Amino acid sequence: MVKLQDEFQISEHYSLKEYDDYMETKPLDQRIALDFIIDRFQKTPDLKVAEIAGGTGRFTKNLLHIFPKLKLTIIEPDKNCCLWLKKIKKKYNQIKIIQSYAENFRSRTKFDILVMTTAFHHIPFKTKDIFLKNMQNLLKKNGMFLLGDEFIAEYKTMKERTQILRKSYDIWIKTAKRAKDEKELKMALDMEKVVFRKDFGGEFFICPSKFESYIKKSGFKIKGKINVTNTDPLDFENYFYLLMK
Ligand SMILES: C[S@@+](CC[C@H](N)C(=O)[O-])C[C@H]1O[C@@H](n2cnc3c(N)ncnc32)[C@H](O)[C@@H]1O
Repeated sequence: MVKLQDEFQISEHYSLKEYDDYMETKPLDQRIALDFIIDRFQKTPDLKVAEIAGGTGRFTKNLLHIFPKLKLTIIEPDKNCCLWLKKIKKKYNQIKIIQSYAENFRSRTKFDILVMTTAFHHIPFKTKDIFLKNMQNLLKKNGMFLLGDEFIAEYKTMKERTQILRKSYDIWIKTAKRAKDEKELKMALDMEKVVFRKDFGGEFFICPSKFESYIKKSGFKIKGKINVTNTDPLDFENYFYLLMK
């Protein structure tokens, strides 16, 4: 890996250790993505896979555990996350970690699979279209883009979006307090501080219908959609999408 740039995203706002521990309890969209990859792998053993926004390597570790020889390419802009991912490279030396924003990442290699977990909401509103266009360029003709993320309840205007977020955070905080769940409460309060910032604090959550209109504009087709959580929409529901060209 070349010298890392002083570029920071989640590690600017959260402790990576706390994030990693907390997210360990939320693996379902990742399990679904893994099953798709296992299935495709049986047909194409030399699969080219890129993970977008690797973070602390939650998905990366699961994937490499199943495919220890996979020449995985991981794109991640945050310097501290890249350093974290480097620890995984000690065991799986063949993986490639590239410090880049996904919108800017260019590659001559086209991929059979692009996978992105819990990160589309980190792509700024103004670059979501550019990001999806770039994913189109990176994917082979019959390739799959596996995307799992958290979505907020439906809204029409940005003002309504803030109201929805407010309600969701109030519920999250109240529920964590009632359950006396310190870990959950800390995560809710830490995130609350970030998401209501004027610059959105790097957390550009949207609702499923907005996501689907971005997808439609990008030329991707939604081939599968699963509501992984099936709770109340005000509870940040997690959806898994299978996208193809
Ligand atoms: C919530 S974490 C998810 C990490 C990991 N995929 C997981 O499931 O735990 C979001 C990640 O997106 C990264 N990120 C933020 N902006 C990005 C961008 N424009 N392109 C690619 N990754 C980005 C952050 O640095 C962070 O590592």
